[in-house]
Amino acid sequence: MAKLNTTVLSLCVVLAFLTGQSAAGRYYADKVQDKVRKEVEKAIAYNPSVGPALVRLVFHDCWVNGCDGSVLLDKTPTDGTNTEKKAVNNIGLAGFEVIDTIKQKVGGDASCADILVFAGRDAADILSGGKIFYTLTGGRKDGVSSSAAAADATLPSSTFDFNQLQNNFGAANHGFTVEELVVLSGAHSIGVAHLSSYQDRLAGADVTPIDSDYQAALVKVTPPGLLTQGQDPTVPNNARDASSAFQKAAAYDPVKLGVNPTRGVLDNSYYHNTLENKVLFKSDWVLRTDSFAAGKLEEYKNNATEWNSDFADAMVKLSNLPALQGKEIRKSCRFTNQQYY
Ligand code: HEM
Repeated sequence: MAKLNTTVLSLCVVLAFLTGQSAAGRYYADKVQDKVRKEVEKAIAYNPSVGPALVRLVFHDCWVNGCDGSVLLDKTPTDGTNTEKKAVNNIGLAGFEVIDTIKQKVGGDASCADILVFAGRDAADILSGGKIFYTLTGGRKDGVSSSAAAADATLPSSTFDFNQLQNNFGAANHGFTVEELVVLSGAHSIGVAHLSSYQDRLAGADVTPIDSDYQAALVKVTPPGLLTQGQDPTVPNNARDASSAFQKAAAYDPVKLGVNPTRGVLDNSYYHNTLENKVLFKSDWVLRTDSFAAGKLEEYKNNATEWNSDFADAMVKLSNLPALQGKEIRKSCRFTNQQYY
């Protein structure tokens, strides 16, 4: 029996080696974190698009008054239904149902704020194939206010220039360095964006440099005129995740660029794309306009392992931004306890 166990163990080690690192079946000794993990695994297996949504939620919750679950609220006593979800800069935010399901499983054992950062961490782990992993502790309290206007005043817009981004991230606001700005922007290797978030890159007087084939391919699949007809379709943030036809039209060959062609992976492909001007947002492209940030783009393009590790560190810092108005452990992530019946 002992021999059989050793043989099975060796086989597992060999398989793990052959398939590369794997995030499958990670186990936490902490009961809450383990429940979160299992639900995130299930949710991503059922609908892979919730993975990027959960990673983005960490940024959008923690950036506004710290990690207090305020982004999850549908209404509050002070803001009515005009909560952060209604902010323009929160367009496309998703993953709320996954958080609700997890909340049902963990009940009063964890705040919604804790659930949200744990879920984002597990999503990053799974989407990176186990290459991005970090530990977090619980204890965050949930906030009881959530304002759309405050979120729009605090979250960066995709049309920001470099100075605006630096200021938004910097010491006067969130305490993040330019290096961390460049590191965290790499999250745009996954997920999708609405046409309204990159329309400024397709037409008009203020088009910032963008590869002409990539631009033409985007115009073809999402003509800017659709916006005037009330339509706002989405495309993948990363040309790597687009259809083969799109990639051909955009002259985007992941292999030639040195990018892993596997779709949906959270990795350093963003840096390859940005340096080719095959990137969606102005806020991505402007990182090229600052010499220090541009040097970091090059560094992370050439060193995937360094980016994985720096991204994990920056996510820890993000997930630990103190909850300025954290007050309670909510019964439902969508309502304050005062409004929960
Ligand atoms: C640097 C400033 C940033 C700006 C201006 C920005 C802007 C945006 C915009 C406009 C979208 C598309 C929204 C839509 O149209 O649906 C988006 C998507 C996304 N962002 Fe950012 N973002 C920034 C930083 C970050 C950070 C720090 C993270 C995470 C650490 C992040 C993670 C994501 C993810 C994962 C998506 C795809 C979401 C999905 O598919 O559901 N972003 N971002």
